[in-house]
Amino acid sequence: MFSPEDFIRDAIQRVKAEVQGKAIIGISGGVDSTTAAVLASRALGEDLLAVYVDTGMMRKNEKEDVERTLKGLDVNYTIVEGSDRFFHALKGITDPEEKRRAIGRTFVELFEVEAKGVRATYLIQGTIAPDWIESGGQLRDRIKTHHNVAGLPSGMELQVVEPLRDLYKDEVRKVARVLGIDVAERQPFPGPGLAVRTLGEVTPERINVTREACAIVEEEIEKACDEGTMENPWQYFAVLLPLKTVGVQGDLRAYGHTVAIRSVESVDGMTASYSRMPHEVLGRISTRITNEIKEVNRVVYDVTNKPPGTIEWE
Ligand code: XMP
Repeated sequence: MFSPEDFIRDAIQRVKAEVQGKAIIGISGGVDSTTAAVLASRALGEDLLAVYVDTGMMRKNEKEDVERTLKGLDVNYTIVEGSDRFFHALKGITDPEEKRRAIGRTFVELFEVEAKGVRATYLIQGTIAPDWIESGGQLRDRIKTHHNVAGLPSGMELQVVEPLRDLYKDEVRKVARVLGIDVAERQPFPGPGLAVRTLGEVTPERINVTREACAIVEEEIEKACDEGTMENPWQYFAVLLPLKTVGVQGDLRAYGHTVAIRSVESVDGMTASYSRMPHEVLGRISTRITNEIKEVNRVVYDVTNKPPGTIEWE
């Protein structure tokens, strides 16, 4: 039986033993990196700096939410403006794996600058088991390069420390609850952010469409859960497809973008089934997306389990 209390005690000891000097930690505001930051801060105190990078690919209001979370933790932190660099690094790239590698490289370039500033030689990460398993660990095929694992460039000088490496999502949540972390119940959000939900080329304009669509999906599903119309899914979001289709708006022909809605049930993200969601909720999401986002004229619902699909589309 997994004991979060034992895990916390051992993880703090392991970080203390592994880190000889100063460390930084990349924090995204999600449960994994926040939990890793709290453990690392208990081990290292003033020798830890948490770095939040604004990639320009985060969800609506994410920066403000993360800052609030960081303020509530007893951790030194800094916020780095990185969106221009990320959009530049992703320019012209459509291949999902190339995208992930470009994002991984850009994160590390920014982390190295921050590390130099405080003379840190270690990079702590909130990597969890599915991240490295799906990145091709344990002789498995590489499903996708999680940016914080195989997305790291080979010449990186910082030494990587991963206190949550052996945990699955449900176990991280148990640890987070014991640590009193208020994002413990948040749905997972991938490190590369909306870039892997924006199929095809990533541009600020296309990311904006994905961001607005994700916000509508979250709002409508959370409203339906509050009203008791449905149970809270494990993860739910929108994906912008690299595909235009014909439609009609008013009396005029339209040729617009397609958004897919994804909502899944899972325990640890390793397998998942698509959510059997009420049609009224799907209908409300579809109407809002096509009314509020002028570029979009078609919405589809993804009814694929994992396997054979993955949860994210890239
Ligand atoms: P997939 O899409 O592989 O995702 O079925 C399983 C879970 O992991 C999240 N995910 C990521 N999380 N960095 C992360 O921190 C990543 O690169 C990444 N890719 C996917 C995904 O949202 C799902 O919860």
